[in-house]
Amino acid sequence: MNFPARRLLGAIKRSSIATAADIATAADNLFYRPFRNEAVTRTGRHFAKSSLSLPVHQTSKPDENPLRTYFNAHRQGPGIFKWDHYFDVYHRHFSKFRGRKVTVLEIGIWSGGSLLMWRDYFGADCTIYGVDIKSECLVYENAFTHILIGDQADPRFWAKAKQNLPRLDVVIDDGGHTYAQQRTTLECLLPHMSPGGVYVCEDVHGAENRFATFSFGIVNALNEAKLITYADASEKQLVSKTSGLQAAIKAICFYPYIITIELQDAAVSQLIAPKHGTEWSF
Ligand SMILES: C[S@@+](CC[C@H](N)C(=O)[O-])C[C@H]1O[C@@H](n2cnc3c(N)ncnc32)[C@H](O)[C@@H]1O
Repeated sequence: MNFPARRLLGAIKRSSIATAADIATAADNLFYRPFRNEAVTRTGRHFAKSSLSLPVHQTSKPDENPLRTYFNAHRQGPGIFKWDHYFDVYHRHFSKFRGRKVTVLEIGIWSGGSLLMWRDYFGADCTIYGVDIKSECLVYENAFTHILIGDQADPRFWAKAKQNLPRLDVVIDDGGHTYAQQRTTLECLLPHMSPGGVYVCEDVHGAENRFATFSFGIVNALNEAKLITYADASEKQLVSKTSGLQAAIKAICFYPYIITIELQDAAVSQLIAPKHGTEWSF
């Protein structure tokens, strides 16, 4: 008998396991748990690359996205540089803020065009903060746009900046695009956001960028389910008390090259699964 099989048998004997499901769980714990995340990530990647064929329409719908319309019409003046599919991501997550009094911060100014685009999209009541490492970007400061100069990878820069920054509704990280920069910026700014806020990290693609993997770690924490119980003896509703993270984060969305994190409008103290109906099959 080989070593893992002997360990499995020992575990079964020690815990007086009876059913096939229990044996499968014990085997899973013994053989797969230590390397589960890496192995499963590899399996998902293999599935995506080798066997995934999904139906898609051959022609796209007419353009109804005000950001894309703005961008496509913008042929002169301060430059904007965005992946086209980001406009769909932005509009999906940002449209709830349009016309409201919102505070928007974008890291990565470059030629100032995107700051003007946000102003046009969110409306006259928005306040915009632009952050860049290059002091040349100070020229984009105006009545509704504030410019901060600093290194997004430096927590001390953010600690100082936050002393004067209001809570943020929208953060767009379009800065240097390295993992260290993206991670530090998220760690420093996510706690400084308003309820309902939307955080966007752009350009997470490429083998050397680990921000998506870092974000999977947050997703794993979001999926932890330690305290699931029935609400009462009638067993009509499952209840799971939320962690601090689950109370505050509504969704983390992964798109090609870009990730969004949306905060809850109000703290969620529990997740519930009620049962409706009177007939149950088994
Ligand atoms: C891709 S460009 C921004 C494009 C702009 N948002 C647009 O849509 O046109 C990236 C910008 O990030 C800035 N940047 C690079 N590293 C940075 C860092 N460590 N901290 C802050 N800004 C940085 C660069 O100076 C550059 O202006």
